Amino acid sequence: MKVLVSGGAGYIGSHTVVQLAEAGHEPVIVDNFSNSKPTVIDRVEQIIGHHVTWYRADLTDRAVTERIFLRERPDAVIHFAGFKAVGESVAEPLKYYENNLNTTFSLIHGMQASGCRLFAFSSSATVYGMAPLPFTEEETDLSALSPYGYTKLAGERILTDIAAATDIRVALLRYFNPVGAHPSGLIGENPLGIPNNLMPAIANVATGRQDMLHVFGNDYPTPDGTCVRDYLHVVDLADAHIAAVEWLSEHDVATRIWNLGTGRGTSVLELVHAFERACGHKLPVEFAPRRPGDRDAYWASAERARDELGWVAKRSVDDMCADTWHCQQGNPDGFPNGEPASQPSQA
Ligand code: NAD
Ligand code: UD1
Repeated sequence: MKVLVSGGAGYIGSHTVVQLAEAGHEPVIVDNFSNSKPTVIDRVEQIIGHHVTWYRADLTDRAVTERIFLRERPDAVIHFAGFKAVGESVAEPLKYYENNLNTTFSLIHGMQASGCRLFAFSSSATVYGMAPLPFTEEETDLSALSPYGYTKLAGERILTDIAAATDIRVALLRYFNPVGAHPSGLIGENPLGIPNNLMPAIANVATGRQDMLHVFGNDYPTPDGTCVRDYLHVVDLADAHIAAVEWLSEHDVATRIWNLGTGRGTSVLELVHAFERACGHKLPVEFAPRRPGDRDAYWASAERARDELGWVAKRSVDDMCADTWHCQQGNPDGFPNGEPASQPSQA
């Protein structure tokens, strides 16, 4: 299949482009590099060993998006493009609603203009809000705690309605906590990003860029008092997208939801200890007050993806830490600035 990957230069998108190419599909990257470096294209081409088609375009621009669809005529879309910082979404909700929803609308218009029918959407476990554990796809009491979360809830709703009224087929993919990097160390989470999330913060402490890891809360009702999450390796997550798009191509179901997680919880301190094993030294930690809005623990019910997609997350927490550390060591100053060697396609 030819698969248009929106946000394909970003963290999860770049890994998905690599896995698509290695599975024999043809990825087409569309990204405006608002949260990624163009040189990621070089890295992706280095891993897969050949050129990848890419466009520099803002997917909120409907006319440009339609032109790309008419030129490429993809069989499927995997939609990663969007903003994802929870705190920033509270401060700048309009920026989040506009970008995360308008990119979705433009892509649907492009699909309708070109006859493309398969759409996979990056959703998040954040839509489960305060639902009981483990989170299952049948849960109906969804909610969000931030404008970012509402862009995911709204995206799910909008796509469900569109799939019901058209021949577009939609996979709603609810990610738990993606971490790690490609084993080559060439792509990963931008190592210089502001560490709002735990794994980049741990990596910053390991490299010495940050003095100390602040562990937000050690009095939660969990085995060691720190919060528990379902971390999954980004390469496993990338593989799940391929399984989901292939499933959509074989089943006439308007919308299907899959949790993408391991089904296992890991505490903040357990992740710190795993990273210490990977980097070979102790990491200084300090307990700090709870972070507002954090839930004590959650993890996925991962059975549906296993039973229907034949997908299970294979890589361990130790693999996630080892690959993150390898990527950090290879890119101590982040990914390079500048332009990729290969030329973009023109919309
Ligand atoms: P990322 O920021 O690394 O990647 C997103 C990419 O989209 C970036 O390359 C950015 O430049 C691009 N982009 C943003 N707006 C665009 C626009 N208008 N036009 C074209 N390109 C645009 O983020 P990620 O971690 O790879 O996440 C991908 C998706 O998965 C997002 O939708 C995110 O909300 C969702 N998600 C991520 C996580 C996570 O922990 N990383 C968890 C759950 C869901
Ligand atoms: C966060 C987002 C969630 C998003 C997810 C993507 C919030 C409230 N939630 O989830 O919407 O879908 O990222 O991966 O922002 N921690 C520390 N010290 C740090 C950083 C984090 O102790 O320096 C703790 C947090 O308090 C939390 C755990 O580590 O208990 C995991 O945090 P994080 O990586 O931010 O993920 P989530 O909170 O699960």
